[in-house]
Amino acid sequence: MRVFVTGGTGAIGRHTIPALLESGHAVTALARTPQKAALLHARGARPAMVSLFDRAELAPAFAGHDAVLNLATSIPPMSRFMSAAAMRDNYRVRTEGSAAVVDAALEAGVGRVVQESVSMLYRDQGSRWIGEDAPVDHYPLTRGNFAAEAGAHRFTESGGGAGVVLRFGWFYGPGAEHSEQLFALAGRHIGTVLGRPGGYVSSIHLADAASAVVAALEVPAGTYNVVDDEPLTKRSYAFALARAAGATAWLSGPGRAACLLGDRLTSLTRSLRVSNARFRAAAGWAPRYRSAREGWLATASVLRT
Ligand SMILES: NC(=O)c1ccc[n+]([C@@H]2O[C@H](COP(=O)([O-])OP(=O)(O)OC[C@H]3O[C@@H](n4cnc5c(N)ncnc54)[C@H](OP(=O)(O)O)[C@@H]3O)[C@@H](O)[C@H]2O)c1
Repeated sequence: MRVFVTGGTGAIGRHTIPALLESGHAVTALARTPQKAALLHARGARPAMVSLFDRAELAPAFAGHDAVLNLATSIPPMSRFMSAAAMRDNYRVRTEGSAAVVDAALEAGVGRVVQESVSMLYRDQGSRWIGEDAPVDHYPLTRGNFAAEAGAHRFTESGGGAGVVLRFGWFYGPGAEHSEQLFALAGRHIGTVLGRPGGYVSSIHLADAASAVVAALEVPAGTYNVVDDEPLTKRSYAFALARAAGATAWLSGPGRAACLLGDRLTSLTRSLRVSNARFRAAAGWAPRYRSAREGWLATASVLRT
């Protein structure tokens, strides 16, 4: 297939482009600067310098492609996570940006739009498994995600082709800045637990997120959770990270106290035991790392080199 990727230089995108090329697809990728264009070219993609917010530029750039993978996001790094201004950028990417992508894909006659979303928009379900039809929460941080998801569904309903939403778990792996920061803290015996230690965190290694994006080129339109097979409790997740870093956690936090920080963190403090059953069945996809235990060990071996 001929595939157009946005966010190809990001955490998921940089794993996705090689995975697409290895599967035999031809890749064009949006670049925001000449430096990023050169980087994408070196990685085997054809760069296109167009604005994510400009439908008139996007439509001709999309023409001739079979699918558009919208992986552009602007989630602030941990140091700026509480900044309203930083969150506004992400909101704009997910609202205006995703709408322009769908409009342009419809105009260009593209057959498929795959939209990145997150599984942190489900309600806290304690230890119950969460499928795609479980109740979601409309708190401020999720507004942009719901807008982006609505765009993909609008693409399907407009008769343009298949709109696919991928709700990723908390991703980790080489190339994700927050993972590298958590790994460094773990190496200094500091464990991170956000929310109740017995609550669940559903995660996905970046390599598995990338293979899921490739598999999403073949699934029927709809919404799919993309998480690993075995969500861990937050306590077990911190233990898995400490083990991978080769250090015992002496300090662990902030735990339940993180809930006091309000809705910017509620996405990360809730208990989410998310199931990947629908995507496994539709795509024949399976994660290489069944849980963060195996995935963090593999990540550690890369981060140490
Ligand atoms: N998603 C999670 O699970 C999660 C959880 C916690 C923390 N984080 C952290 O959040 C930070 C950001 O992660 P991220 O998921 O947003 O991915 P990212 O790694 O920052 O990548 C975002 C991608 O979207 C592109 N992009 C951003 N704004 C754009 C715009 N206005 N127009 C076109 N393209 C645009 C970027 O392009 P450029 O290369 O040109 O910038 C990049 O390719 C990282 O530190 C990550 O570790 C993520």
